[in-house]
Amino acid sequence: VTQEQVGSVADGAAAAQRYLFANAWERARRRLDLLEQYYDPTSFRWASALVRDGWRCLDAGAGGGSFARWLGEQVGATGTVVAADIDVQQLHGIAASNVEVREMNLVTDELPQGEFDFVHTRHVLVHIAERDAVLGRLCAALRPGGVLMLEEGDVSSVTAATGAYGNAWRTFVRAAEAGGGRYTGFAFDLPARLGALGLVDVDAELDAQIFRGGSASAEFWILSLEQALPAVAAIGGPDDLIARGQAELSDARHWFHGPTTVGTWGRRPAD
Ligand SMILES: C[S@@+](CC[C@H](N)C(=O)[O-])C[C@H]1O[C@@H](n2cnc3c(N)ncnc32)[C@H](O)[C@@H]1O
Repeated sequence: VTQEQVGSVADGAAAAQRYLFANAWERARRRLDLLEQYYDPTSFRWASALVRDGWRCLDAGAGGGSFARWLGEQVGATGTVVAADIDVQQLHGIAASNVEVREMNLVTDELPQGEFDFVHTRHVLVHIAERDAVLGRLCAALRPGGVLMLEEGDVSSVTAATGAYGNAWRTFVRAAEAGGGRYTGFAFDLPARLGALGLVDVDAELDAQIFRGGSASAEFWILSLEQALPAVAAIGGPDDLIARGQAELSDARHWFHGPTTVGTWGRRPAD
């Protein structure tokens, strides 16, 4: 990993302000619980083929902590997990003695280089304007032989959806991208990016959900649209489009598909 790939450190306070889904929101815990319920089964399936007993791990942007907690169980008593986030308030419930909660802004704070056997993100880089620099730094944090696993989303199928749901998504994505998010294209490029960063044995899989109105998955997107309302207002977006999308998501007669998750992983060659 070269200095150019690692990039320069940008303004971290600005990164925190731009993040749409702050963990301090009064309904953040419920939203994160639903997010974990939505994504954990696939994440655990992909990661269980990669993680080994005794490994030192980093979950970057650990959010509500379910993945870090699970990782702690996988690596056993001799392994360790750093659960890092710009806002750690939803991580305090992790009781595992081998999981360390660390407040860290991935954009500005130093990441230990060559330290981890396993580095993971899930739906983190797409939200960060400085995602390219952060990706380089995550890669540099790997020990020789260590594995980087990224799970990041692409919304191109949902922004093409019909009905009030599709309209709400198009408005929401415009608002999120105005704040530096990148919800289309980036995730699909990641496998090639891992190769360009020098990782080997790169592989990738896709996952997406289809779900019914009124379900827990629908509630996750209702809350996500709710939390994005200030950002929609900031671009002068019509918030009735969001409200109509939420009403459709509450209606059990409708079925919806969620964004595509790109799961990709690769290994830093042994020195
Ligand atoms: C959509 S949540 C996903 C949480 C978790 N990875 C999961 O999938 O359950 C994104 C997380 O990234 C964190 N985050 C956003 N920007 C960050 C930054 N610059 N540095 C560290 N964490 C950041 C947020 O606080 C939030 O917890």
